[in-house]
Amino acid sequence: MSAIRFDNVWKEYGDHIVLERITLDVAPRAFVALVGPSGCGKTTFLRMLLGEETPTRGQILIDGYPMPSEPDADRGVVFQRYSVFPHLTVLDNVLLGRELQRSRLLGRLFGRARREATEQALALLDEVGLKGHEHKYPASLSGGMQQRLALAQAIMRGPKILLLDEPFGALDPGIRADIHVLMKRLWNETELTVVMVTHDLSEAFSLATRVIAFERSRNRPEERERYGATISRDLEIFPRRVAQPRTDHPIRSGRDDPAAQGA
Ligand SMILES: Nc1ncnc2c1ncn2[C@@H]1O[C@H](COP(=O)(O)OP(=O)(O)O)[C@@H](O)[C@H]1O
Ligand SMILES: [Mg+2]
Repeated sequence: MSAIRFDNVWKEYGDHIVLERITLDVAPRAFVALVGPSGCGKTTFLRMLLGEETPTRGQILIDGYPMPSEPDADRGVVFQRYSVFPHLTVLDNVLLGRELQRSRLLGRLFGRARREATEQALALLDEVGLKGHEHKYPASLSGGMQQRLALAQAIMRGPKILLLDEPFGALDPGIRADIHVLMKRLWNETELTVVMVTHDLSEAFSLATRVIAFERSRNRPEERERYGATISRDLEIFPRRVAQPRTDHPIRSGRDDPAAQGA
């Protein structure tokens, strides 16, 4: 659960202005969908939130504090493809989420911590509908299953903010509908703040509590790089969270358990 503030953020690559004048307050536990034409800077926006890129002007605050300059476990991410590691089993991919949460160098889990993490990973796999597939490799899973696995891996890190970059864009419509139900439930049951990029407006409106559109205010080809995209629409959607967060949710129990965190 985290509040996000963008305070007049710009992102430029050399002379190319990608984003400009982004000022935005996101409430804790919001589900924001980000839409806009290809190339307008949606992924760049997410990468700044992840800490992979820094603004060239302005600043980003998380819960009132300047954002850490590197990615950490407080922010999890799922990309459209290839978020999971092909050489690790389904279970090990999820366990890796926990190991990454702990530490870059000393992340390996042993003994009791590993047993407890394994229990949580199995519960999470059950929750995302991958029970029985624990010992398979990602290549033998369908696209929808791989994205469920990527979600489980991201959530296993115990993030406060979940960043999704067109995570369901490559899936067939029927599978996408199923994963929407799952996504909604995960968001409902946890304290996650979600920021999801999508090119699918119906997906944006059916999942999000707020839909934000990026657009360039001027788009003449000869001045394309002189003006960045900025927020052109910002629609609050009727809040439809139905449940309080579950106190026994695998994510919460993961965060609250000192043994699992290697303390
Ligand atoms: N590392 C980079 N160096 C230079 N230009 C970049 C870099 N990353 C993104 N861009 C440019 O920023 C613009 C926005 O890219 P992106 O954020 O990927 O857009 P979107 O996700 O909305 O399709 C594009 O013109 C892209 O070429
Ligand atoms: Mg993109």
